[in-house]
Amino acid sequence: MADWRNPPKLYIPGPIQVPDDVLKELSRPVLGHRGKEYAQLQAETVDMLKKVLFTNQNVFLSTSSASGIWEAAIRNCVAPDETVLSTCCGAFSDKWAEVVTMCGRKVETLKVDWGKPITAEMLDAKLAAGKYAAVTLVHNETSTGVMNPIEDISKMMQKKYPNVLVFVDSVSGMIGLPVKFDEWGWDVGFASVQKCFGLPPGFAVAAVSKRALEKSKTVPFRGYYFNFEEWAKAAEKNQTLVTPSEPHIYGLHYQCTKLLKEGMENVWARHKKMADFVRGWAKKRFGLFCEEKYASNTLTTIKNTRNINVAEVIAAVQKNHNVVFGNGYKKLKEATFRIAHMGDISLDDMKKLTSWIDEVVG
Ligand SMILES: Cc1ncc(COP(=O)(O)O)c(C=O)c1O
Repeated sequence: MADWRNPPKLYIPGPIQVPDDVLKELSRPVLGHRGKEYAQLQAETVDMLKKVLFTNQNVFLSTSSASGIWEAAIRNCVAPDETVLSTCCGAFSDKWAEVVTMCGRKVETLKVDWGKPITAEMLDAKLAAGKYAAVTLVHNETSTGVMNPIEDISKMMQKKYPNVLVFVDSVSGMIGLPVKFDEWGWDVGFASVQKCFGLPPGFAVAAVSKRALEKSKTVPFRGYYFNFEEWAKAAEKNQTLVTPSEPHIYGLHYQCTKLLKEGMENVWARHKKMADFVRGWAKKRFGLFCEEKYASNTLTTIKNTRNINVAEVIAAVQKNHNVVFGNGYKKLKEATFRIAHMGDISLDDMKKLTSWIDEVVG
C-alpha cells in the first residue's frame, strides 16, 4: 500500500530525492518579501547563481515550474508576426514547440527521431533556408536521455546567426552539465530546481540576456506574471515581482553555496563519473537508448533489450528497498527505463540501485 509518509527515494529524472540537510534549510523563518532581510537573501542567491551560470546579465527567480519559462521566453521576446524555429528531439522539446503555437506565435520545427540529437549542422541548414526571430533548444532531453551538443550549436549560432535569439531549456542539464550563458551567447536559459539543483519542485531559475530584455520591451501583450521587464524592475531592488516561494530561495542559497565551494568543474566531473558508471552497467546488462557520444551525464535512458517488465521491476525494487527509478517516457514506456544521476545523488547510490535492479532481473 502506498504511504506518502514513507515515500520511496527518488531516482526518477526529477524530482529527485532531497537529503535531510537540504530539507531543513527550507524551513527557515518566513521573511517579509519587501523587507531588507529578504533583499539580502535574494541578492546573495542571485549573485551565486550568476557565478554557477557564468553570466553577468540578468538572473531571475520564478515561483513557477520551468514550463512557465517556456511560455515567458516566447511571450516576452517574440513579436506576434515573427516565427520561431523549434528543434524537436523528444517529448519536452516537442511540447515547447506546441507551447509556441499556444502563445499565438508562428512556429516551424526541425525534428529528429527520438533518441537522436540536434546537431549544429542540421540547425545551420534549417536556419539558412528561413527567417526566424528565435530558436528553441532543449539542452538535455529528459525523455530520451540525449545531451545535445549545445556548445557547438551555440558557437555556430553566434558565428552565423547572431541576430537570432537563442532560448535554451536546460531543465535537466543546468549545473550538472556546463552552462556558460554569456560565453555561449544564450538569450534565455532556464531550469526548474527539482533536477540538478536538488530541491523540491515548484520553482525555476532563468537567465535572460540584456538584448532579450530590451527586445521584450517592444513586444505587446506580454502578460503580467511572467513579464521580464517587470521582473527586471523588481530585481533592481532585489525583489521578485510577486510574492516568492521563500523556502525555495533558502534552498537555492544553500545549494549554490555548496556548488561554489565544490567548484563547477568538479560538479560537472562528479555528474560525468556517475554517468560513466551507470552507462557501463547499462551496456553490460541492457543497452543505451541513444548513441553513447550523446548520452546525458545527468540521466541515463536504458534500452530494454531483455524485454523485462519495467513496471514490475520498478515495483519489486521499491518493495525490497523503498527506492524507485523511472519507466520510459510516454511512447518509450517499457521500451526503455531511466535512471537519474544528478543533484545530491551519489556514485554509491548508483552502485546500490543497479545492484538492486540486478537482484530482481537476474
Ligand atoms: C527537459 C524538460 N523541460 C521542461 C520540463 C518541464 O518542467 P516543469 O515540470 O518543471 O515545468 C521538464 C520536466 O521534466 C523537462 O525534463
